[in-house]
Amino acid sequence: MNLTGKVAVVTGGAGGIGEAIVNALKGAGARVACLDLRQGNGNINLICDIGSDDSVIAACALAEAELGMPDILIHCAATTFKGAVLDTPIADFERIMNINVYGALRLTNAFVDRMKARKSGSILYISSINARFATPGQGVYAASKAALDSVVKTLAVELADDGIRINTVQPSSVATPLLVEGFNALPNRDEAIAINKARHPLNRWGEPEEVAKLALFLVSEDAAWITGAHYALDGGASVTRR
Ligand SMILES: NC(=O)c1ccc[n+]([C@@H]2O[C@H](COP(=O)([O-])OP(=O)(O)OC[C@H]3O[C@@H](n4cnc5c(N)ncnc54)[C@H](O)[C@@H]3O)[C@@H](O)[C@H]2O)c1
Repeated sequence: MNLTGKVAVVTGGAGGIGEAIVNALKGAGARVACLDLRQGNGNINLICDIGSDDSVIAACALAEAELGMPDILIHCAATTFKGAVLDTPIADFERIMNINVYGALRLTNAFVDRMKARKSGSILYISSINARFATPGQGVYAASKAALDSVVKTLAVELADDGIRINTVQPSSVATPLLVEGFNALPNRDEAIAINKARHPLNRWGEPEEVAKLALFLVSEDAAWITGAHYALDGGASVTRR
């Protein structure tokens, strides 16, 4: 995969999956702006709250001034709330939607007019397997990812004439610090991990680098005929009941 000369912006690029994506993009020759609440490993790293209009506008302007107009946008930042749907305070529902969904749209809006003028652009949002299934204990997170997938279907059609492609990937359990910490907090940690792994026919968690490989393909010219798609990346978890 050769992305030499391309510019990418990655939100949540300092996280487990985000950092793997940033590294993969850089490895393919792209110059990468990492937007996150913490320091990342991009060519430039901007502290940015993707939940804030002002913060995103300022960070995107700085990214463009430093690296040039982006060709690739990837929204990887996300947050969650652990609890039953009806126990989730509305303020938390709003916070999750604001970061997971509106954050993606803020990033896209910062550059889409000029992508349209150029008649090219490649956009990827990181969704989740939970977008497609009941997710007791994290139903509001799941709803935000379902919203992301839905919006991408419509955007794919709305932006197609402008030469802009947009897709999502839907990982299941990926071995990031976030996932591991979640299990570490459980009293039956080892059993819960074994049960979770067994829900994947390939009987293991995914690695961040495996998400990055698919992300790299989808934002590259090799995926020039792919738009509006949601790619499962889940060791087979979504094709069977286990
Ligand atoms: N790890 C998994 O098992 C898994 C499974 C399915 C989907 N995902 C998705 O993959 C993506 C990355 O997940 P991860 O496991 O690497 O999590 P992570 O917590 O390691 O990374 C998320 C990153 O987003 C950043 N972030 C959070 N709120 C932000 C904000 N307001 N502004 C800017 N940055 C913000 C965090 O600082 C962090 O660096 C998320 O969209 C997540 O929903 C993860």
